[in-house]
Amino acid sequence: MGERPYVLLSCSVSLDGCLDDVSDTRLLLSNEADFDRVDALRADSDAIMVGAGTVRSDNPRLLVRSAERRAARVAAGRPENPLKVTLTGRGCLDPDAAFFTTGDGGRLVYCASGGYRRTAAAVGDRATVVDAGDEVDLGLLLADLYERGVDRLMVEGGQRMHTQLLGAGLVDELQLSVAPIFVGESCAPRLLGDGRFPADPQRRARLAEVRALGDVVLMRYGLSPRFDDGC
Ligand SMILES: NC(=O)c1ccc[n+]([C@@H]2O[C@H](COP(=O)([O-])OP(=O)(O)OC[C@H]3O[C@@H](n4cnc5c(N)ncnc54)[C@H](OP(=O)(O)O)[C@@H]3O)[C@@H](O)[C@H]2O)c1
Repeated sequence: MGERPYVLLSCSVSLDGCLDDVSDTRLLLSNEADFDRVDALRADSDAIMVGAGTVRSDNPRLLVRSAERRAARVAAGRPENPLKVTLTGRGCLDPDAAFFTTGDGGRLVYCASGGYRRTAAAVGDRATVVDAGDEVDLGLLLADLYERGVDRLMVEGGQRMHTQLLGAGLVDELQLSVAPIFVGESCAPRLLGDGRFPADPQRRARLAEVRALGDVVLMRYGLSPRFDDGC
């Protein structure tokens, strides 16, 4: 495997560890201060990646909201917004989703070969679609992003994305914010599905910071030797 970007996974959960509830509308877990934390991380990133499930369920724009942060990126010779990245096996993506219709930072879709033609036909004029082989291997995907100039990647969901990346030991930093609500639905998506992860009772993760953001608590964990604690 080649070199890869620094990978920062940022997500919000309820007190009972849910990423969302089971309703059709997106559950708001963050507050304004937490959205601003996310915005600062986006502005610092070369690319932002979510799974196709999140593109379909949340319809995120994945843009930098703050005009000052966008201006600082431009002054530094970067696009106003980071590159957007998603991956799909089936290729079931709506070209009118905000992922494809907003922002200036470019869009990349990694697609398993089986869904490539469908994906290229649907969104090929709005994104670069990459045939990633029979199964999208996340290690190879990260190496490819690195070759495209992505040094710093922010991952923003969803559950399957978290499970695969953490399970493969490909996350350097986790920023987890906990919102003061219970979802209380056993079918609601949790932070992770089944798997083996880089921190366990023998190898506990390194807690680097705990910060109160109004009624939300942010925890920052280092999960690899590459963890950059900002000091
Ligand atoms: N609270 C938060 O911070 C937060 C953030 C983001 C999302 N969420 C929530 O998370 C939920 C969505 O999670 P999710 O697990 O359903 O979706 P997801 O992880 O966003 O996306 C899963 C989809 O990505 C594609 N995919 C992932 N790995 C792949 C691989 N190796 N090869 C090919 N395709 C791959 C597949 O797309 P295809 O099905 O197209 O093949 C798969 O169905 C939603 O409820 C959303 O609200 C919460």
